[in-house]
Amino acid sequence: LVRRLIEEGDHVLVYLDRRRRWLVRVTKGAKLHTHEGVVDIGGTLGQPFGIRVDSTLGATFYALKPISIDFLMKAERRTQVVYPKDLGLIAVKTGVSPGATVVEVGTGSGVLTGFLANLVRPDGHVYSYEARPEFLAVARRNLEKLGLADYVTLVGRDAKEGLEPRDADAGIIDVGDPWLLVKPISAALVAGAVVAAISPTMNQVEKLVVELSEEGYVDVESLEVIVRGLEARPGMTRPAMRMIGHTAYLTFARKTASAKE
Ligand SMILES: C[S@@+](CC[C@H](N)C(=O)[O-])C[C@H]1O[C@@H](n2cnc3c(N)ncnc32)[C@H](O)[C@@H]1O
Repeated sequence: LVRRLIEEGDHVLVYLDRRRRWLVRVTKGAKLHTHEGVVDIGGTLGQPFGIRVDSTLGATFYALKPISIDFLMKAERRTQVVYPKDLGLIAVKTGVSPGATVVEVGTGSGVLTGFLANLVRPDGHVYSYEARPEFLAVARRNLEKLGLADYVTLVGRDAKEGLEPRDADAGIIDVGDPWLLVKPISAALVAGAVVAAISPTMNQVEKLVVELSEEGYVDVESLEVIVRGLEARPGMTRPAMRMIGHTAYLTFARKTASAKE
């Protein structure tokens, strides 16, 4: 059993239950104040991740090792962001993996950017375009906190003016008028590259798929990810009463060698 020990400066996910969890940086003497009592975070130094820590009121907490989605879900949000259920399918359908070059339009808060940066590192790179400086600053802060800034070039510009990379393996579009970004992003992609677009409404999807087909893309597919949780208990397991409502429709397409440049 490989047990990595918690060191000064590490983050731990302080877990109480499914709804209550905190991402905390571990330093000597650090304490977390909660409604269930005070948790001695500093006391986890030198202990293995996963260690149980009881609060001053006797509640049971665990200092878990955070994974990338824990950081992404705690990121500062100033725009609509892409949610885990959609992130997963974007990863599968674009095939973005270590070493890939990705170009993205609509950095927003940088949640998807951070997810992609984590997939392409250590040798790949994400070029992300954001027209509004205030959102670019939020995304920059988030990426720095995640330790992912080295894998991302943030460009503060309207992507309709053109995109720099010429050899990207995947293109991501998360803006209100995605059909207007197909031509600019196409020029940044190698033939065979996959485009993924995130669109909250169906009329955006309709305009986008028409434009993708006109530009010579194939394998055009639009879908929505619907996730239903289970409340699992011996003898009483059933679907959860509540579900995440609508987030966005996802559209994927592949650039052909005959696609217009
Ligand atoms: C929905 S947000 C993106 C959220 C992001 N995917 C995330 O997970 O945090 C869309 C962003 O696209 C930006 N945007 C819209 N049109 C743009 C364009 N033509 N060029 C660059 N950025 C654009 C908006 O300013 C906005 O911040």
